[in-house]
Amino acid sequence: MDIKTWLQFVIVAMVFVASTFPSSVEGRIRHYKFNVVMKNTTKLCESKPIVTVNGRFPGPTIVAREDDTVMIKVVNHVKYNVSIHWHGVRQLRTGWADGPAYITQCPIQPKGTYVYKFKLTGQRGTLWWHAHILWLRATVHGAIVILPKLGIPYPYPKPHKEVVVVLGEWWKSDTEAVINQAQKLGRAPNVSDAHTINGNPGPLSSCVANGGFKVPVDQGKTYMLRIINAALNEELFFRIAGHKLTVVEVDATYVKPFTTDTVLIAPGQTTNVLVNATKKAGKYLVAVSPFMDAPIAVDNVTATASLHYTGTLSSSVTKLVAPPPQNATPVANSFINSLRALNSAKYPANVPLKIDHSLLFTVGLGINPCSTCVNGSRVVASINNVTFIMPKTALLQAHYFNISGVFTDDFPGKPLMPYNYTGTQPNNLATKKGTKLYRLAYNDTVELVLQDTGMLTPESHPLHLHGFNFFVVGRGIGNYNPVTDRKKFNLVDPVERNTVGVPAGGWTAIRFKADNPGVWFMHCHLEVHTTWGLKMAFVVDNGKGPKETIRPPPSDYPKC
Ligand code: C2O
Repeated sequence: MDIKTWLQFVIVAMVFVASTFPSSVEGRIRHYKFNVVMKNTTKLCESKPIVTVNGRFPGPTIVAREDDTVMIKVVNHVKYNVSIHWHGVRQLRTGWADGPAYITQCPIQPKGTYVYKFKLTGQRGTLWWHAHILWLRATVHGAIVILPKLGIPYPYPKPHKEVVVVLGEWWKSDTEAVINQAQKLGRAPNVSDAHTINGNPGPLSSCVANGGFKVPVDQGKTYMLRIINAALNEELFFRIAGHKLTVVEVDATYVKPFTTDTVLIAPGQTTNVLVNATKKAGKYLVAVSPFMDAPIAVDNVTATASLHYTGTLSSSVTKLVAPPPQNATPVANSFINSLRALNSAKYPANVPLKIDHSLLFTVGLGINPCSTCVNGSRVVASINNVTFIMPKTALLQAHYFNISGVFTDDFPGKPLMPYNYTGTQPNNLATKKGTKLYRLAYNDTVELVLQDTGMLTPESHPLHLHGFNFFVVGRGIGNYNPVTDRKKFNLVDPVERNTVGVPAGGWTAIRFKADNPGVWFMHCHLEVHTTWGLKMAFVVDNGKGPKETIRPPPSDYPKC
């Protein structure tokens, strides 16, 4: 072999190795640094200091591939305790990196540092990260984009471009002051002053904001929007003037593609949609507005953005779209009922068919006496009438190191005092308090019916489970009937997700397999309800051998 041929051979070999190496089972390591800092923002209605990651709102996007390991060094430069949750990341055996304060870790104190390290296993799609303490997630949040392994295509046509679209809520006043004030009164906090699309409420709102977020598009091309609802307390509708949306993925699981005018997205959820730029030119409004079909106050300001076709004159008028009415239950239902798991040979829906734990959890509000509250009582929330009390030691730590006195594992699997949950309001609205967990053995299968109650008022609750995806096998209005409703469950291609809405005055049934040892939080993703106690946790014991056992905590695990 002459030197030239030899060199060519070496180069080809190097290119080959370079292109195949990252798709090896181990994946790459992706490093990120998150500086939690105050930033004075003038981007919205007025200037105010907010807590941010790296001075950005929304925060930076994490991009990685399936099988990669992500290491995020979080440095806390603010006066608050901080922790960050990687919402929807399964965290197989790495609960130490999950993030909810006092559940899986003590918070990172001011000046403190913690490196979150986890592997992305068996997941690809859009997820997100957010602060998981106090109300800091109002401004401390961002996207996680998990690309498929190298060389593995999407199960839908490859879009020309992808755009992250983070929906949020904005308060003119400091959000910590908003919730502190409400807790003193024992009443609901003020609703937000604006919704935002990538940090911007848009030109049609009363806030001045540099024109709104723009998506530039070329005629004939397809775009994928990775939509994230990072709002604290509101389910949102999403529409684009003159364009259909094809839903291809939710919560980082592929769905059977379907086309719709309107996307419904609850806090915590993510939705990928394809948009074909079928028009010749022009500007088209994107409208984000609240969905609320119960008598509860919401921020009714529509946030707007726009699609801009290349070559459109800046003087051209934006084509408008009317948002659905705030109480458009039929629009919400038709979206929810269209969701089905892709359930292909490559991406099967492995729905548990044999069930070890059949649970019924009521979710709702209540009123407890409160001597320090202005009104002498406070609004609380509960699951099976237990208002969850946050511990002072992280539950995962207490579980792993066998520290007693932090929690009990007697969370009731059924309501202790059954009543007509969606009928007339019972006389006694008081709840019990406790730090109760529900214990599962490794690989136990769970069917969990989440039943809304009419205590105070029926209301839709987006329930989020950490550490797992679950299948949404059924949904209905009124009280769940175990005989007739179970017969109608979809056990073939139910949508798989990590956050699901329990309809106002109705129920949702989910199934999952407890194949992840650790302590896993479950709560309403309306921040106000989490604050009020609509939360609990599952403790999943280790199985057999190291592959079924939680890893030891990292050496920089924060102390309380
Ligand atoms: Cu996105 Cu425990 O939350």
